[in-house]
Amino acid sequence: MLKLLAIETSCDETAAAVLQYEDGIIRVLGEAVSSQIALHAPYGGVVPNLAAREHVANIVPIVESALTHAAVTPSTIDCIAVTQGPGLIPALLIGATAAKTLALVWDKPLIGINHLEGHIYANLVSDKNQAADFQFPVLALIVSGGHTQLVLMRDHFQYELLGETEDDAAGEAFDKVAKMLGLPYPGGPEVARRADEFRNSNFKFQVSSFKNKSPSELQAPGSKFQAFPRPMLDSDNYRFSFSGLKTAVLYFLKKNEAKLSDETFVGAVCHEFQEAVVDTLVGKTERAIQAFQPKTLVIAGGVSANKRLRERIEAMVEHYPDCTFRMPEFKYSLDNAVMIGAAGLLRYARLSETEREQLKPNATTLEPHAHWPLTS
Ligand code: KG4
Ligand code: ZN
Repeated sequence: MLKLLAIETSCDETAAAVLQYEDGIIRVLGEAVSSQIALHAPYGGVVPNLAAREHVANIVPIVESALTHAAVTPSTIDCIAVTQGPGLIPALLIGATAAKTLALVWDKPLIGINHLEGHIYANLVSDKNQAADFQFPVLALIVSGGHTQLVLMRDHFQYELLGETEDDAAGEAFDKVAKMLGLPYPGGPEVARRADEFRNSNFKFQVSSFKNKSPSELQAPGSKFQAFPRPMLDSDNYRFSFSGLKTAVLYFLKKNEAKLSDETFVGAVCHEFQEAVVDTLVGKTERAIQAFQPKTLVIAGGVSANKRLRERIEAMVEHYPDCTFRMPEFKYSLDNAVMIGAAGLLRYARLSETEREQLKPNATTLEPHAHWPLTS
């Protein structure tokens, strides 16, 4: 049995968790998170130095709280895992410094985990305490605030980048469209909420007779046409681009400024935008399934919390019976320390005693990387 303490501070959540790994099952023994949403809301986005200051204030109580919930003492912890990157350097530094200090004082091995790897391994954490393993090859659609990537894994911790966004990440596009619509921070979930509300309340009106409506008629309840482009959907590769879509929304809103006070109009724009993003993500993922025939498809990163994306991918994967679709539990879709712990535990479990000892000098040498590719 292995026990691990995990720390995550790459952006605006201070998070710690204690996990246990036994007989192939990952169990969460205790976790604590402090969100900084209220702090950054007035600025409409995360302010790195404010985030760092808040992490400094919260890191000790958050680690203490995770340890207390788990009812473990430091002597029973085998290893410490911390997010090493990618992320905001001032924020990453706080988690790294806390983890290094604890590793030094407690004389524990310290593993630096890639944040995106954590998002992928969040798929192996289940409340049902099922055996945690992937069937390879695994295709991972990573969709977060900073990344949009399709990655192929032929084994644990081996990543082949099939393609990524050429400009904005999917989550970033959600956040920017939210800003254009004057919606409160954090924008992504708010755009998604309004999009879902619009779709559900207008569903019965969504008939093909609306197809020929012009974009200026978008505010009509239930209109069903493609107001916005599906960038690169038809190109024969696994690359994405969301900045053109964002600009299309911007121009559309400029033409329809007067309607921004109309809730139904805002809902329709959110819906049309979400459909464009989801169509693109689903289309490219399906292309990769056909080419690489993965046994498992996972979605990872904050945008994997998007309900429409989940249901559309689930429906698409039904056409590929040899591929199993896994998605993280909602609470582990967004940034958290449990996902860092899951990746850390599985990495640590595979090491020899000598390799574990070799992780101890990380207590003094580990340094965060703002741009740390998953494939390095
Ligand atoms: O993984 P994450 O928590 O942080 C990063 O690693 O970037 O992802 C945050 C991103 C933000 O852009 C946020 O707007 C987006 O995920 N997001 C969503 C939803 N929930 C979070 N985007 C669309 N629909 C959602 N339900
Ligand atoms: Zn993340």
